[in-house]
Amino acid sequence: MRTSLRSHKTHELTDDLIGRTLSLCGWVETYRDHGGLLFVHLRDAGGRIQVVFDPERVSEDAFDLARALRSEDCVRIRGTYVQRPEGNDRTQLDHKSTELEADSVELLGKAQHLPFRPQDGHQAGEDHRLSHRAVDLRSDSMQEALRARAAVIRGLRGSLEDAEFLEVETPILARSTPEGARDFLVPSRLQPGTCYALPQSPQIFKQLLMVGGVDRYFQLARCFRDEDLRAQRQPEFTQLDLEMSFVDEQDVMDTVEAAMTRAVTVFGQETPVFERLTYAESMDRFGTDAPDLRFGVEIRDLTPIFSSTEFQVFRRHVDQGGAIRGFAVPAACKPTRTDIEAVRAHAAGLGAKEPAWARITGPSSIESTIAKFFSDDEIRGIAEAMGGQEGDLIFFMASNSAEEVSRVLGRLRLFVGDRFGLRQGPSRFAWVHSFPMFTTDPATGHLQAVHHPFTQPSDLDTLMSGDRAALLGLKSRSYDLVLNGTEIGGGSLRLHERQTQERVFELLGMDKAVVEEQFGFLLDALDAGAPPHGGLALGVDRLVALLLDRDSIRDVIAFPKTQSGQCRMSKSPDRVEPQQLTDLHLRPLPTVVKEPVPAAAGRASSAA
Ligand code: AMO
Repeated sequence: MRTSLRSHKTHELTDDLIGRTLSLCGWVETYRDHGGLLFVHLRDAGGRIQVVFDPERVSEDAFDLARALRSEDCVRIRGTYVQRPEGNDRTQLDHKSTELEADSVELLGKAQHLPFRPQDGHQAGEDHRLSHRAVDLRSDSMQEALRARAAVIRGLRGSLEDAEFLEVETPILARSTPEGARDFLVPSRLQPGTCYALPQSPQIFKQLLMVGGVDRYFQLARCFRDEDLRAQRQPEFTQLDLEMSFVDEQDVMDTVEAAMTRAVTVFGQETPVFERLTYAESMDRFGTDAPDLRFGVEIRDLTPIFSSTEFQVFRRHVDQGGAIRGFAVPAACKPTRTDIEAVRAHAAGLGAKEPAWARITGPSSIESTIAKFFSDDEIRGIAEAMGGQEGDLIFFMASNSAEEVSRVLGRLRLFVGDRFGLRQGPSRFAWVHSFPMFTTDPATGHLQAVHHPFTQPSDLDTLMSGDRAALLGLKSRSYDLVLNGTEIGGGSLRLHERQTQERVFELLGMDKAVVEEQFGFLLDALDAGAPPHGGLALGVDRLVALLLDRDSIRDVIAFPKTQSGQCRMSKSPDRVEPQQLTDLHLRPLPTVVKEPVPAAAGRASSAA
């Protein structure tokens, strides 16, 4: 990468350059004065190399300048690329057996105030790192993250372009899309009293593109959701958003699998396997709609075994339509009494009943504090249903609510996976499909869309004429993509006819006039000969964080927000000049301006 200031980046240095004069630019990482010789480790965006300043070789001025160099000074060094003397290898450097013998050095940028050394950022704490992100970005960890992110995006984009997808940009100043979160609003200056909403996703626009004959669309879309933040959520994040015409679920999944395979192989990982399972199956086997398939410990139903049990506690739950379910921790994990207590305590921490436990000691024998209540048939049944081997430890729970049992066991399964180090190994993708179409909104009692209101149900007749019970039993033609237990993408086939879309809005309790005002443009478009279509959006930040095994998506975003939605570095959000508010036809509420703004910001008096 030759530029007017440098001849090469360090990763471009090959043996055929030995003996040549090079100009390298980068940052001083370490600096040592060794009996007259100065050794500098120079780092650039490609790697590191050792530079030697020999007073015999460089001018006195250059040597003095080199001696004054400190960590993170930005420099340009000219010198000869040479083989390092035998037995003098620096293993932590990329160029182990070569170095640069300096002829001259130029200080391009002095590191006057260094908040921390980039490689020590982890000790500085995340807040400090985010406050000085420019320096933090120089660390190997951030450089790796940004590079991996770009490579993943390149892989996804390349695959979609090969499959004739067209990259189209959709507006950022938009109107609200019901994706379930709160909108970020942008007040309009030209239309007093109105606001744009930043898109929670380009959902409606991409559907309009299908009506517009685009056939296959994708976009690296920045999305904005004002929701409570967690490690895997940011208020603004990036989706690889796509939509396709004339497709069914398989077409979308196949396309995404091809793109994902291309992206993942960047990491040198094997071609991934994608398992497909229904929502119901996922809940039954894993107690969650985002299963981690890297380990077994699957939930099994024990209810039929106890259908006529003498054990009253279980009998009561069976009679009341509940369920008894459990999972087995393999003997190979060597679970101890302490582990049993830890699992039970974890359940209690979740606000659930502590699970019962039993250790399989033979084909029809178990060791358990409640074994005495079970018949021989029941004991045999438990061991068989679990596919259990001698030494396996079974945890099981009974409740009047089968979903509750599965949900708790699902959380305990993950706890067990973490405790016994089972949640590792090659990445495992799972498609979870056929979610319920609706749930009940606990606040209003109205039906609520599980994916979003534009999703097609598995049966249009039930949608159009079914009663509430039938509607709650209806499945949707939606699918989530899950990686190692985290949802990384979601999509569906869409309603592409006005009538069915209107019906969903009606079922969601939306007033006709409101629907017309908010979605009239979509309904009109659906009335203009809309093709059947469907798509999906992948969360790029989550995908990259998982592939790199980073704890938080903040670690793979160049300039993320903190948990409280702030940019520590640029201090956004911040107050604005009163005139800016006036221009937007806004007046601050007295409570908002209670605290004085620091004088440096120059806004205190006028804001009040
Ligand atoms: P959904 O809301 O499921 O679907 O979002 C798709 C994916 O986006 C990622 N994601 C997030 N990532 C970081 N921070 C957030 N706050 C955040 N919220 C979501 C997740 C998620 O799986 N329009 C539909 C897609 C469609 O139907 O085609 C949509 O946005 O990885």
